[in-house]
Amino acid sequence: MMTAIRSADEMGQPAVVATPVAVSVADNHAAPKTPAPVNKRAVAQSFSRAAQQYDQVAQLQMQVGQQLLAAIQSPAEQREKIVALDIGCGTGNLTRHLQPFCDTLVALDFAPGMLQFASEHHGDSIQHFICADADALPFAPASFDLVFSNFALQWCESLPALFHNLFTLLRPGGRLVFSIPGDGTLRELQHSWQQADPFHRHVNTFVTAPQVCDALQNAGFQLYVVQEEPVIMRYASVRELTHELKTLGAHIVNGERNRQLTGKRVVAGMLQAYEKLRGGDGKLPATWNIIRASARKPASD
Ligand SMILES: C[S@@+](CC[C@H](N)C(=O)[O-])C[C@H]1O[C@@H](n2cnc3c(N)ncnc32)[C@H](O)[C@@H]1O
Repeated sequence: MMTAIRSADEMGQPAVVATPVAVSVADNHAAPKTPAPVNKRAVAQSFSRAAQQYDQVAQLQMQVGQQLLAAIQSPAEQREKIVALDIGCGTGNLTRHLQPFCDTLVALDFAPGMLQFASEHHGDSIQHFICADADALPFAPASFDLVFSNFALQWCESLPALFHNLFTLLRPGGRLVFSIPGDGTLRELQHSWQQADPFHRHVNTFVTAPQVCDALQNAGFQLYVVQEEPVIMRYASVRELTHELKTLGAHIVNGERNRQLTGKRVVAGMLQAYEKLRGGDGKLPATWNIIRASARKPASD
């Protein structure tokens, strides 16, 4: 069983793309409120650092991932033929549950620390670990029967470009199953920052479900399901929320915010604004607007 971690460098690709990139969306729907460059090296480093703690705070991610897994059906007699890819596998804690659905399982992430953790803990159920950027996938066309991704595609440069690539990487009849936080995610935090600092964006922008649908269809996919569901998590304090976001890598903002420039007065203003949202249960709400999608490459294209 192969558990070596390979970097995309070995395949002539950059392991981590350091330059800022912009998230682009389908033209015929309202674009997110701000352009969204993201420093991918910072995201990858942040996830590498978070690898040891990630599973302790990723309850929502695990719950959504389990729902995605439940949506995958694979007749037992086809099992021998199926090659699956998990993009943004993180600690591998979810990836390993793909094993019953396939014969060969490839876990890909651009954070070396995450891959290291995944190979140490789940090397017995995952055959291949690849360190690469989802925006530069180092695979030949028609390599996979199933591409899976949970809470990872929000850092990609362009969903339309990504879906075109994934369409090429899938074999005819292959499935793409993923979740991604959608527009409205962390709206309470965004609102509170806006009260304190109206001219800077402190929270990521996220795509909408119609943008996801359009991008999938334009790439040639047949849609099975594109579902949007708001999940409201509750926290004792903003500090608890931001600690969790840091461990989940979600504190890195796609936008032009400079963390050093956020003064104490602005932070205090944000905290004060968020306090006004404290509910009857004594907790602060934080919304995650989860988009789940399942699509298929037509059997003959
Ligand atoms: C929130 S974690 C999700 C991990 C896992 N899928 C789960 O559900 O627990 C996101 C993961 O995606 C990875 N990631 C983010 N953007 C990526 C990209 N462009 N290419 C490869 N991996 C990426 C991060 O390094 C991180 O491990």
